Parts: sequence; structure tokens; C-alpha cells
Amino acid sequence: MNRYTRLTVLLLVFSHFPGELYAQGYPQNALCVNGQSTLCSTLPVDLPNLAIQTGYFPKTDTTPPSSNVAQDNFDWFSWQMFIALNWPADSSGKPLPGPIGKTPSAPRVWQGFQSPDQVFPGNGINTKSCAANKKGLVLFRTSKFSTNSFIEPTTPWPLIDQAGNYVIYDVRMGAVEVNYLKKNGLLTTAGQKKFTGSYSFPTGLGTSEGAIELKTAWRILTDPASYSNFFTSPATVVVPAQNSVTGKEMCLDVTVGLVGMHIMQKITNPPPFSNFWVWATFEHNANAPTAQGVTPSQSNQNAAPQKNSYDPLQACPAPTAPGSSYSFFSPSCTNNGASCTPNQPPAIPSKAKNANYLWQEKPPFAQTYLMDGKYGTQVVRCWDIYDSAKNVTAQFQAALAGTPWANYMLVGAQWAEANATEFPSPVMPFAAPFYLTNTTLETYLQLNPIIVNGKPSTDKPGSCIGCHNVATDSVNKASNFSFLPGYAK
Ligand code: HEC
Repeated sequence: MNRYTRLTVLLLVFSHFPGELYAQGYPQNALCVNGQSTLCSTLPVDLPNLAIQTGYFPKTDTTPPSSNVAQDNFDWFSWQMFIALNWPADSSGKPLPGPIGKTPSAPRVWQGFQSPDQVFPGNGINTKSCAANKKGLVLFRTSKFSTNSFIEPTTPWPLIDQAGNYVIYDVRMGAVEVNYLKKNGLLTTAGQKKFTGSYSFPTGLGTSEGAIELKTAWRILTDPASYSNFFTSPATVVVPAQNSVTGKEMCLDVTVGLVGMHIMQKITNPPPFSNFWVWATFEHNANAPTAQGVTPSQSNQNAAPQKNSYDPLQACPAPTAPGSSYSFFSPSCTNNGASCTPNQPPAIPSKAKNANYLWQEKPPFAQTYLMDGKYGTQVVRCWDIYDSAKNVTAQFQAALAGTPWANYMLVGAQWAEANATEFPSPVMPFAAPFYLTNTTLETYLQLNPIIVNGKPSTDKPGSCIGCHNVATDSVNKASNFSFLPGYAK
């Protein structure tokens, strides 16, 4: 191509997308962050060369001209993170030679990260019945937050799959974050009391990763025929005495399958946005169907009332033709003989006996709480996944064909915090999509409003950023959107 043809091509591009320079500026919309079209174990940590138009307003449609073009860059970024963190690794978390499907039973890069129970003194697993040298994942540690085991955050409820088993959660933090907390003496309440600064986790830049936090959701698999559909791991589930039907601690050896994954990384953003966390969330594609007739959050196509506003949808009805079988939805689900209400939490155990949800000794572990004795939670996705996330997922799934990873999808990515002068309240801090949750991690609050009376809600809003905005450490100081400093004792 000579200089003149190149100029014509550029002019054509610009005339089609007036003022939309950012998509051309971003060199990393590829399967690998180095720009190549093969999957790789390199973690993206910043967005160099991504120029964002002044006046960027969050939208999730992909019809140009639209300021949404900036959104798809973060969708590529999120998938690149998912691949790098789920790359097979040695026992220290160092990536093994690829491709990603080559060593299916190897641990993943993120399994080299520490759990907050290991990082904050006094939180460690304290078990009588489980041998110390268990292999695989050790789930359901007892800690200050019961929420990191099998109860969903900010709720009293667990999630139960259609086989009648509880979903279990695991939280990890990358070494950069651990070092930051150590260096600033923030691993204990005493240290946090002395800390005069404000929390600001390190941001990724160039070849250095930023602070990383992960939360994963797991199903207990009881049918070996289903294993190949999931990323699986052997796991030891430590059920403390207060959650055990026997009244004694139980140690369960099970196989778990990955159904959900939250990834947060604090990165260097393009100006005018300040450095901030990227909030990516992934799910297994057979978790739950999408509700009948719902839109993505914050899409500007054919403006229906909720599409351009901060208001949640009015309802989340089960689909009339749900299609294939799901982990958390059954078309025949009934409760007291009537058809199941979507996203209804399991009955809270009666306070008279034992206020805690109990585990049986054998599957189905959540037998006591099944609807009509056999159905788990009836889950429906309340916001449709926006087009850009769907498009990027399709490209990664094609490259992952033949591996269980092809069954995972990006639900969405929130990012960016800009200066308040350009983006006035109540949108601060804002993101597209405004509403973002994972059906396996925040099942019951998908439609909780994010803006109430013109102000950001602090009451369990259905948005990563909206809800994490209230996070504090153990002495109630704002902790830069991370709940982890709250583990300190
Ligand atoms: C309604 C509130 C709420 C929403 C919505 C929410 N979270 Fe969280 N999240 C929490 C709480 C509380 C914790 C800490 C306790 C726990 O781990 O369960 C947490 C923990 C986490 C962790 C583990 C690290 C940490 O800071 O404790 C990650 C990672 C995470 N969330 C990511 C996300 C992402 C990504 C989204 C959006 C897709 C999201 N969260 C939505 C409340 C929320």
C-alpha cells in the first residue's frame, strides 16, 4: 500500500466513524495482548494508545457512531485476562507451555495466588477432621466473612443447583496486592489503625501487573458424564459444625466445576479516566437462561424507558422457551405445586432449631431446602448480555473449541472512573453497563437499583462498582473498592 492509498483508507475509516478514533488507537483487540491471533498466557495490565473521546458516555450498543466503541476494548481486555489467569500452571502459578487445553488437570495460574485467609493473620483454616495435606482446592474455609464460602455477599442466602447442591465460593489475591498491604502494615487491625494514608492499590503498567482480586463460584459435580463440560478440580470442602447436619465438622472430598468468575485488576487507564479497577465477570454458558424480553443494561437502541435510564427493569420473567438444560434452571420447577418464581431465594432455616443452612452428609447436600423436595434455585438472567461482550466471546470460544473453556462467556466488563467535572453526579463512579452481576454470585440482587433519589444507592445495588463503592477495612476506612482489608484482625 503506498502513502496515498493508505491516506484514502484512513479517510474512509474516519468518515464512517466521525470522531471515533479510539478503536483504531487500541492495538490489542486480538486473542493475545501482544496483538497476535493465538491465545496466550500474557496478562494485559493497561490500555496504551487507547484514546477516548471527550464526552464518552457509557452505552452498551455496538451500532456506530456510538461512544460504545470504547467498551469493546475492555471486553477484549477482560477475555485476555480470563485466558491468562486460567492458563495451566506449575504448583507456584508459573504458566506451563500451551496451548491452554494441553494439560487439563494442571492447576491454573490464579491457583498460585493466595487466599485472604492465608494473607491476613488469624483467618486460617482451622480444621479437626481434614488431613492437612489435601490436594486440589480447599473450599469453605471458616473466616470472618461467611460470605466467601457458600452464602452470597450482602445476603443471607446460598445458591442451590438443580442437582440439589450448594454453590461454593473462593477468593484470591495477587502478589502485587499482598505486597502493597504488607508494605503499608495493613494486614492487621492494629496496622490499619496506624495507617494515615488512603488506600490506593498499585496499577498495572507496561509489563507489571496491577493489584488483582478474584472470586470464583463452583458447583459440586456428582455425574461424571458432565465433567467434560466444565473446568473441574478435586476439592476438599470443610463444613464447619454449625453448618453440618451431624453437628460435627465434615470433610467432603468432591469434584467441583467452575460456574462463575469475577476478575478485578487495577490498571492504568487512558486519559481522561483515572486509574481504576476493571471489573470483568464470566459464567458457564449453561448456568441459566435469559429472562423473557429483557434488554442489556444501558443500551441506547430504540430507547425504551429503562434503556437509557438508571432504573432497573420492572420484572425478570422466566423465558417461554428456555431451550437446553441448565445448572440453575429447570423448566419443570414447581414450589408447593405452582410454577417457580425466578430468583427466589431458598427458605431461611427456622431460628428455633439452627439458624444456619445445613449440609447433608451425602449429595444432595442442600436436600432440606429443595422446592417440592427436588428443585434447586430457579435462576434467570435479568439483563441480556450486550452485543460487544457477545461478539468478543464468540471469537474466544471459537479459539477454545475442543476444550471446556469454550463453554464460558463474558457477561460484561465495568471500568473507568473519570473526573467529576466531566461526568457529574449521580453517574459517578459510572460504567457501562450500569447494571452488572453474575447469576452464580449475586443471583438475588440483579435488579436492585443503583441510583435512589438521585444518589448512588448503598443498599446492595446490582452493579460491581456500585456495591464495592462502600467497601472498608476493619476500622471502617474506605479501602479502594476492595473488601479484602476487612479481613484483618
Ligand atoms: C451487592 C454487592 C456486590 C455486588 C453487586 C458485587 N459484589 Fe463483589 N463482593 C461483595 C462483597 C460484600 C464482597 C466481600 C465478601 C465476599 O467475598 O463474599 C465481594 C467480593 C468480591 C471479590 C473478592 C475480593 C474482594 O474485594 O473481597 C471480587 C473479585 C468481586 N467481589 C468482584 C465483583 C465483580 C466483578 C462484580 C460485578 C460483576 C461484583 N463483585 C459485584 C459485594 C458485591
